[in-house]
Amino acid sequence: MNEILIKKIRAKFPRVDSDAMGRKRIFFDAGAGTQVLESSVKAMADVSLNYAANIGPNYPESAKCDEIIIEGRGAIADFLNAEAPETIVSAESATNLLGRLGYTIGKYTTKKNNVVSTYMEHLGNASPWFEMERRGYVKEAKWVGLNDDTTLNMDDLKSKVDKNTKVVSCAYTANLFGTKNPLKEIGKIAHDVGAYFVVDAVHHAPHGPIDVKELDCDFLIFSMYKVFTPKYICFMYGKMEHIENLFPYSVERNVTVLPDKWELGSIDPAKFAATIATMDYFVWLSEQIKDQYKGKYDNYTGRARSLKIALAAIKEYEKSLSTAMLKGFDDVPGLPDIPGVDFYGIKDLNRLDERDPTFAFKIADRDEKEVENLLVKKYGIDLRYVFDSWNMAHNFWNIPTMGRASLVHYNTVDEVHRFLKAVEEVAKK
Ligand SMILES: Cc1ncc(COP(=O)(O)O)c(C=O)c1O
Repeated sequence: MNEILIKKIRAKFPRVDSDAMGRKRIFFDAGAGTQVLESSVKAMADVSLNYAANIGPNYPESAKCDEIIIEGRGAIADFLNAEAPETIVSAESATNLLGRLGYTIGKYTTKKNNVVSTYMEHLGNASPWFEMERRGYVKEAKWVGLNDDTTLNMDDLKSKVDKNTKVVSCAYTANLFGTKNPLKEIGKIAHDVGAYFVVDAVHHAPHGPIDVKELDCDFLIFSMYKVFTPKYICFMYGKMEHIENLFPYSVERNVTVLPDKWELGSIDPAKFAATIATMDYFVWLSEQIKDQYKGKYDNYTGRARSLKIALAAIKEYEKSLSTAMLKGFDDVPGLPDIPGVDFYGIKDLNRLDERDPTFAFKIADRDEKEVENLLVKKYGIDLRYVFDSWNMAHNFWNIPTMGRASLVHYNTVDEVHRFLKAVEEVAKK
C-alpha cells in the first residue's frame, strides 16, 4: 500500500484528519472504536430511512430487510471463512455475546469443573468466566499469566488446562499492548481435553485476515465498531454443530431457527447494511493491490479471497507503522527508547508478526492528567493516557492505568513521527 493509496483510503474516513469541530488531530484511539467509513454510515442511513420495516411479511420493504440481513451474514461468513451464513450470530456488543455464551456453555458439560482464560483479556472476555464461577457452573476460573515480553506463559497454560476444563478462552490480540496469542497451539491444547475453544477477536479484527476454519476455534467474537463501522453491531461465529446443538436463551418461536435462536428480539437491518458497506470497502481495497497477490490466497474464492487480500495488505502496511513506532527516526528514538518512557509490549522488529500496532506506555513520574492534556490539547493527538483498558493485565502487573496508542491502516508513518516527537518533548519536561 503506497502513499497514493493511503491518501485515497483516508479520503474515505471524513474525520481522520480533523474532528467535527474542525480541530486538526492524529487519531490513535482505534482500540476504543475506529473512525468510520462514510460509505458505511451512508448505507446505514439509507436503510434506516428507506427500509424502516421489520423482517417477516412479504411486502417489498420488509423483504428487502430480510435480504440485507442474509447478505450481511454471508459477508461476515466470507470475512471469517466460516462454513455457512447460519453460523454467524449478531448482537449489539461483544460483551453481550460473550456473556450469553458463558451462560450457555455454563449449563453444559456439567461434570467439568473449571474454565481457563488469561491475564491478557479485556473484561468482556473475563467476566463470563468469573460469572460461571460465581454462579457455581464451575468450581474454578483459572487465569494464565504473562511472560516478561507480554506473551502468554504457555507453560502456565498447559499446567492449568486439564480433563476437567470446560472452556479455554483467550484474546486474539491484547487490547492494551497489542501482543497476539498462538491460537492454533492454544486451540489444540483445549481440544485435546475436549474443552470449547473461544477466541475474542475484538481487538484484532481490523488488523489482519481471520480464518476460523484454520484456527479450528469453536466460537470467535468481534465488534464492527472496531472495524470502521458505526456502533451497536457485533458478530459471533460458532461451529455449526454448536449453533445447532447448544441451547442459548431463546425466544419461543425461534428455538430451532438458525442462527436466530441465538439472537434476542428485532435486529437492525441498517446495521447489517453498514456491515456490508464495510466489507465492500475491503473488496475495493483488494482491487487496488490485487496484482501483488497473484497466486496467493488461491484457496479462497470470490469475496472471501478479496477480503483475505485486503486484510493481508493491511497487515503488511501496519508493520511499517509498528517499525516506525519501535525504531524511531533520525531525529527521535522509538517509543521504547525515549528517555523517561516505560514501554509494555513486544519491541523486537523481527517479531512484528506477533503483534498488532497497539502500544502501551507510561511516562515515568509525571502527572497522568497533565500528560494526557498536553498530548490531546497541545499536540492534537487523540488517544487514551489516564487509561484503565479494562484489561486483566492491569491486575497482573499491578499498574492500574497506562497510555495506549492504538493505530490502524488509515494512520501514517508521518503521524507516528509527530507522535514520537510529542512524547519525547512531554517526557523531557
Ligand atoms: C479485546 C476486547 N474484547 C471485548 C471488548 C468489548 O467489546 P464491546 O464493546 O463490543 O462489548 C473490547 C472493547 O474494547 C475489547 O477490546
